[in-house]
Amino acid sequence: MNALALVPTPDPIPVAWGWFEGLGILTFGLHITLANVLVGGGLLALYLKLRDRNDPTASDVSTRLPTVFALTVNFGVAPLLFLQVLYGHFFYVSATLSAAWWLTIIAFLILGYYAMYINQHRVRAARPGGGIFLAAATGMTLCIGLILANVLTMMARPEAWTGYFDNPGGTMLNLLEPTLIPRYLHFVFASLAMGGLFAALPARFGKGTPEGLEKGMKVFTTATMLQMAAGVWWLVALERPVMLRFMGDSAFDTALFAIAVALTFPALAAGFRKKPVAAAAWIMAAIMAMSGVRAVVRSATLSPFFSPGDLAVTGEFSPLVLFLASLAVGLAALAYMLRLGFKTQEEG
Ligand code: HEM
Repeated sequence: MNALALVPTPDPIPVAWGWFEGLGILTFGLHITLANVLVGGGLLALYLKLRDRNDPTASDVSTRLPTVFALTVNFGVAPLLFLQVLYGHFFYVSATLSAAWWLTIIAFLILGYYAMYINQHRVRAARPGGGIFLAAATGMTLCIGLILANVLTMMARPEAWTGYFDNPGGTMLNLLEPTLIPRYLHFVFASLAMGGLFAALPARFGKGTPEGLEKGMKVFTTATMLQMAAGVWWLVALERPVMLRFMGDSAFDTALFAIAVALTFPALAAGFRKKPVAAAAWIMAAIMAMSGVRAVVRSATLSPFFSPGDLAVTGEFSPLVLFLASLAVGLAALAYMLRLGFKTQEEG
């Protein structure tokens, strides 16, 4: 069967596609940073708690996670908007084929959020327990990441969609995808690294716990090295024409990839020198560049079927202007709320 026949006809877009791709890369970079902190912070706190249920770093990290959870969800909305504008006719087909798993995300979000709050409450009430709620919440966030990796890889493989005719029940998974495991591991190791930074950064400013700096930076450097290995695996698992774009076939993509990789080295060096602020700045730059690399992987994988440059453009700028204005107001409101929140916490 010709897989192209399964791809729905896309709607026209109001302005040139580069706007949506660029904003998608930017907002996805923010979303994935927060998702990394959430999952990695949970894993780190859990690990420390299993060694000592009263570990102060575990308590400090895990009680800050409900806020990160809320921010991760909020910052997921913006890339979702841009994804559906450009790639909705691929993304929604994939989400529908995996509908049962896709809808489970909502249950995991609600239950995971509750579990994080219950953990926070128990820690603050000096009844930390064995970490069952933290474990449940972290497990659910790991599952959410896996389901998303599944849907986002399947969207770029219309040839896999024919599986629907054997499995119309909405439980399709993209398990034969060679990039799925390295892609997911890339997320898990990145999460561990960001969880380490999340423990170390407050310690650097005299908050959190003093041992958080030592423990956090050790986790950051170890996980970043594992992350590099998972990245190499992901690269070689890509289809050859996609991989070759980063090996000289496209000057722009090769340069972007080289910059993204190069940025991880100063981050690692700062990690070894136990400088969390410098490590955070370098790693944020690396995440943004890698977010661009990921967008290139998607468009190169989809290129036999579709290019966003082919979408009809209506030339209506007003929705974009309204969006950018609302984004600016929204970000300012968020910054204000976070400042108020931290101030209240400090006042105790
Ligand atoms: C705890 C919750 C969450 C976690 C751990 C999480 C994690 C992830 C991960 C790992 C990916 C990348 C998957 C891949 O490409 O292999 C991803 C992508 C994405 N997530 Fe989340 N996510 C969470 C919640 C959400 C929510 C609630 C939304 C929407 C409101 C959302 C929207 C997105 C979108 C749109 C992408 C893809 C962006 C793109 O490809 O351009 N996420 N997320």
